Amino acid sequence: MKIIGIIGAGQMGAGIAQVSAQAGYDVLLSDVDITRAEAGKATVAKGLQRLVDREKIDAATREAVLSRITPVAGSASFASADLVIEAATEREDIKRAIFNDVGKVLREDAILASNTSSIPITRMAQASPDPERFIGIHFFNPVPVMGLIEVIPGLATSKATVETVSAFCDSLKKEIVYAEDEPGFVVNRILLPMINEAVFVLGQGTANIQDIDKGCRIGLNHPMGPLELADFVGLDTCLDIVMVLYNTTGDSKYRPAPLLVKYVEAGWLGRKTGRGFYDYSGPVPVPTR
Ligand code: 3HC
Repeated sequence: MKIIGIIGAGQMGAGIAQVSAQAGYDVLLSDVDITRAEAGKATVAKGLQRLVDREKIDAATREAVLSRITPVAGSASFASADLVIEAATEREDIKRAIFNDVGKVLREDAILASNTSSIPITRMAQASPDPERFIGIHFFNPVPVMGLIEVIPGLATSKATVETVSAFCDSLKKEIVYAEDEPGFVVNRILLPMINEAVFVLGQGTANIQDIDKGCRIGLNHPMGPLELADFVGLDTCLDIVMVLYNTTGDSKYRPAPLLVKYVEAGWLGRKTGRGFYDYSGPVPVPTR
């Protein structure tokens, strides 16, 4: 495997591009237009500069890694890719349209993967050119820091596809957890109910934002409290995942906290919009309630 195509040059796509290029792969980093794809490469440049500043890599390595990443628009150039990883918006209609597009150029021996955080792989495989060569590869944010990848074969995914993708994940020096194709897989199935419950706790007035986060940071030794983490992941993404859990299982235990829905409706999506459970406009985040 030599060439990795990545669709979606946002936070996750850029992170996947960075770790792939650092592992020596040539990367085609794609988005709907070239400006967004180039912005994704600029995110990688910033991430690599952070490593140079901390003396983890030298400037020559930074340049070499960056030179392996080519921003592209759309999917036309993926004919040369051995593995294409979709890391676009967490909406099934958008992902299906992308798989349909990629299917027009993907080589017959190439693998198509989705970095979906919770949408069923078996179902999305139906929009891919070949369900045997379709699989879930779920990275965690920030990709360069987090050591885990979930690998999720769909019902029709071949053993050869699982083996090739596992070797790719190993080459990125990440640990693998294999998950069955069930809603939320393993980690988000556990994480999102915790975040959602933290928002219920907030909405019911049991504790304020600071104490909910402090309680989990110190009491559970988590690096971030659940509300800080929700802001970090994006409240819209959190709600999307909760809704997938709720809708696909029909189990009321996954119903979204009303306050989470309200924040998303208000456009308070967390760090990316400058406000979520915290306000990020000043030098340090300030709780909003
Ligand atoms: N990109 C690259 N590197 C980063 C980074 C970023 N965005 N943010 C931090 N780092 C690196 C730093 O360079 C530093 O590296 P070093 O120790 O080798 O020098 C290290 O991470 C620690 O960074 P800081 O000291 O600046 O900050 P913190 O100690 O506060 O750590 C954090 C920041 C790593 C984000 C930590 O708070 C953390 O682990 N938080 C939890 C993150 C988490 O749970 N992610 C999973 C979210 S769920 C998910 O992604 C699934 C999805 O489907 C929803």
